[in-house]
Formats: sequence, structure tokens, C-alpha cells
Amino acid sequence: MSSALGWPASDDFARSRLGWPSPGQESAADPTGLNDQPDPDDEAGPDEASPSKGSGEAMTVSRETSDDAERIVSRETSGLAEPARPPAGAWPRPPARRVLTVANQKGGVGKTTTAVNLAAALAQHDVRVLVIDLDPQGNASTAFSVAHHLGAPSVYEALIGARSLNDVIVAVENLPNLWCAPATIDLAGAEVELVSVVARESRLRRALESVELDVDYIFIDCPPSLGLLTLNAMVAASEILIPIQCEFYALEGLSQLLNNVALVKSELNQALYVSTILLTMYDARTRLADQVAEDVRTHFGSLVLEAVIPRSVRISEAPGFGQTVVTFDPASRGARAYQAAAYDLASRA
Ligand SMILES: Nc1ncnc2c1ncn2[C@@H]1O[C@H](COP(=O)(O)OP(=O)(O)O)[C@@H](O)[C@H]1O
Ligand SMILES: [Mg+2]
Repeated sequence: MSSALGWPASDDFARSRLGWPSPGQESAADPTGLNDQPDPDDEAGPDEASPSKGSGEAMTVSRETSDDAERIVSRETSGLAEPARPPAGAWPRPPARRVLTVANQKGGVGKTTTAVNLAAALAQHDVRVLVIDLDPQGNASTAFSVAHHLGAPSVYEALIGARSLNDVIVAVENLPNLWCAPATIDLAGAEVELVSVVARESRLRRALESVELDVDYIFIDCPPSLGLLTLNAMVAASEILIPIQCEFYALEGLSQLLNNVALVKSELNQALYVSTILLTMYDARTRLADQVAEDVRTHFGSLVLEAVIPRSVRISEAPGFGQTVVTFDPASRGARAYQAAAYDLASRA
């Protein structure tokens, strides 16, 4: 992904400061066993892991990662501690609205999954949340079962000024306190179309200023790039939430992301800062996952949420049913981890 976008191949930040091996040492990662091990999602079969499937059959092949861990004992790590159970009832609401951009230019690191599950978990506890789907793929819209076919009212129209964002926002079914501004594939054109418009990097910020809905949180789910859409998200938010996969290469490109945040902060949005890091897709079978988690915590300290999101087939199945895992299977490990992360986030308001 990064080379396709023309970024420099070297990543001094990630390697030197976070202690990652240089490209020549990549084989040294093999002793950790990552490359020897089948992926739990792969074991479930590519179709079962795909968010586009909608068949109930997938449930019969579901397997939480803990099962996998049992089968490959020799490489098992200490695993994940059970996350603290957040309180039932209403969670704390922030004194002022928090706008968080969920960004990481790597694809498939859990941005969308994180945005929709944190949002749903907060909404389940009387916190009012709006999710802006800013990825033309519309995965967040899918997870909320919100219409996002071509031509449906979407964030695209709000960005180009054809509609007010108020007319685009829809309530998410079965989840009071939760709203979504869906993305359609039209948004893919926005990266190019916005280039020539006035104040192209603050279109989303302006659109958000006009939102009449009274919400405590706005999560902006970014596409996997550092283009104009992500730039708009960074200008519109005050907080950046970075999901980091507990895998090799997870920190590749992080320096570019942090550089961009610094640039946006100095040039366009003084209020912007990286407020939150979430470790995702933790695979209990590999020591590497522990190592990444440890490195990230050493480097980012208290920015890292306590809860770590495990790799879980239930998490990947939920969007196929138009749901988040916290609504789809609240008792699953993945759902409990997202609930704990959401409570942690709310407690840091
Ligand atoms: N903790 C997890 N365990 C298993 N699968 C996951 C997990 N988090 C995300 N996935 C799946 O991985 C894929 C990529 O996640 P996604 O949230 O869409 O990433 P991004 O938005 O960064 O591209 C999706 O199919 C999603 O369902
Ligand atoms: Mg996504």
C-alpha cells in the first residue's frame, strides 16, 4: 500500500525509535513463527472472513482465537488478560463534543471496525454518537445497515456543497443515540473534484459546524490513504485515534501519519493531536503480537488504551449481518474488548 502511494520506503521513525528490524533483518522475524502460522481468519476460509457475505452459515464455522491458541500451544503467549468489565448504565459524557478522526493509511488495520464498535458501545450507554463514513468503500455504513447505494444521500454531497450534512445524517436502526452519515462510491471522485474547490481541506469542518444534531462524539472513519479526504478529517477533528495492528509492519508508515498530523496542526488546525492509540487484531498465538504491543506501549505510553482487541472471527462476521460485534455478539471476546476500550475512551474525556 505505502509504495503504491509513492511514499519513501524507509521508515526511520518506526524502525529506530520503536526498535523494529531494518528491511535486511526481516528474516529475523520468522523465529517468532508469524509466517509459519495460518491466520485464524484464513482457517475459517476466505469467504467466511469476508464482510460481504451475509449467510447465516458463517456462524457455524465461527471460532474465537482462543480456540486456535489451544491448538498451537508451543507458540502461545501469555495471551490477553480479560478486559475490565465496564459498568452497566450510563457512561460519562464529555463536557464538550469530542471529534475523533480514526486514521491510519494502512488498509485493513481495523479503522472501520474500531470506529463503528466504539461508537455502538458508547451509544449503548447513553452517549450520543455520530459516525461520519469518509471511506468511499462505505464499510462503516455497511456495519450500521445504512443505505449507501450509488445516488443515496451521502457525505460526498455535503463535501461538495450540494446538500447540508443535516440532510445526509440518518439514525442507525436499533441503536438509539447513534447516527451515521453514509459514504457512497461517489466519494471516490471527491479526492479529485475537491482539488480545485475553495478551502478544499476544510470542507468537512464546515459541514460539521452546520450539524444541528446534539452529539457527544463524532467519529470520522478515514479511507486507507493520506489524501484529501483524510486531510479534511484531520482539519475537522481535534483528536486522532490510530488503530495499530499487532503485526509485523504495523508501524510502517506511522511516521508519515504522525508527520501529517504535525503538519496539519501547524498549518491548518492547531487543536489537533494524537489522543488515542488502540491495539487491534492481537493474535494470542504469536509472541510477535506481545512484542508489538509492548513496543507501542513503550513509545506511546498512556495514549494507548488499556484494552487490546483480539483477532476474532466474530468481529469480522458482524458486518456481514449489517451489525457491529458489540450488538451482534456482545458476550464474545472481541465485543468485550471493544466495550472496555470504549469505556476507557469515555473515561478519558
Ligand atoms: N479484531 C479483529 N479480528 C478479526 N477480524 C477483524 C478484526 N478487526 C477487523 N477485522 C476484519 O479485518 C478487515 C479489515 O478491518 P477494517 O476495520 O475494515 O480495517 P480498515 O478500516 O482499517 O481498512 C475486515 O474484514 C474486518 O472485519
Ligand atoms: Mg475502513
